[in-house]
Amino acid sequence: MTNQEQIKAWNRQLKNKSPQEIITFFLDHFKEKIALSTSMGLEDQALTHMISQIDKKAKIFTLDTGRLFPETYDLIDRTAKKYKITIEVFFPDASDVEQMVKEKGINLFYDSIENRKLCCHIRKIKPLMRATRNLDAWITGLRRDQSVTRKDMQTVEWDENNHLIKINPLIDWTEEQVWDYVNRFNVPVNPLHKKGFASIGCQPCTRAIEPGEDVRAGRWWWENPETKECGLHKR
Ligand code: ADX
Ligand code: SF4
Repeated sequence: MTNQEQIKAWNRQLKNKSPQEIITFFLDHFKEKIALSTSMGLEDQALTHMISQIDKKAKIFTLDTGRLFPETYDLIDRTAKKYKITIEVFFPDASDVEQMVKEKGINLFYDSIENRKLCCHIRKIKPLMRATRNLDAWITGLRRDQSVTRKDMQTVEWDENNHLIKINPLIDWTEEQVWDYVNRFNVPVNPLHKKGFASIGCQPCTRAIEPGEDVRAGRWWWENPETKECGLHKR
């Protein structure tokens, strides 16, 4: 079976399965070759809770861009302690960052889309490549209704950028379902969510949203919604 045929078969087989069943299936299938990639966002916290109930040794990593909110660092610490798990933290290459800042300035991302993409590349994409180097699959917290760029995504996909199988157990969930889950199980979440921050990334590139706005409207708010991906998911 080709990769594409296998992915189609998995999507058929796992249709109508719960996120926990999907996670259990793939942790068992890929063993040490799969990891959850967490930004510590609401969806990722729900997934971390699920994974910690299934296998405390399952790999979980986060990319620390160096520009995260203090509340996010706090949450990394609280979550690892609460669930007695290791959240592996990947940092950008120091000399890459130094060079970029020297040439373009510390807040380069506001000056052009090109600069913003360069910063995301150095602070997120390159560390992601390192984090996934020995993996066959990664688990993400993507949901279809998060934005126009995500409306066609499936539970299992081929990730051409990273040459990995990408698993999105919450792809069909609504934001309300995620909130119900984290409230029901008392999952630790970023206190910024209660202050209007729906989707949380780096501090200088994230702001609170108004009621009724798209959940990702507060990310790179100065850019066009059609192109607003940092490159972790579309390049
Ligand atoms: S982003 O591409 O715009 O930054 P978003 O914040 O919506 O993505 O998160 C989507 C998924 O990408 C998360 O559920 C998580 O799996 C992964 N992700 C995003 N940011 C990070 C990060 N800093 N570290 C690890 N994974 C991340
Ligand atoms: Fe840089 Fe902003 Fe991208 Fe973070 S989100 S890596 S600060 S451009």
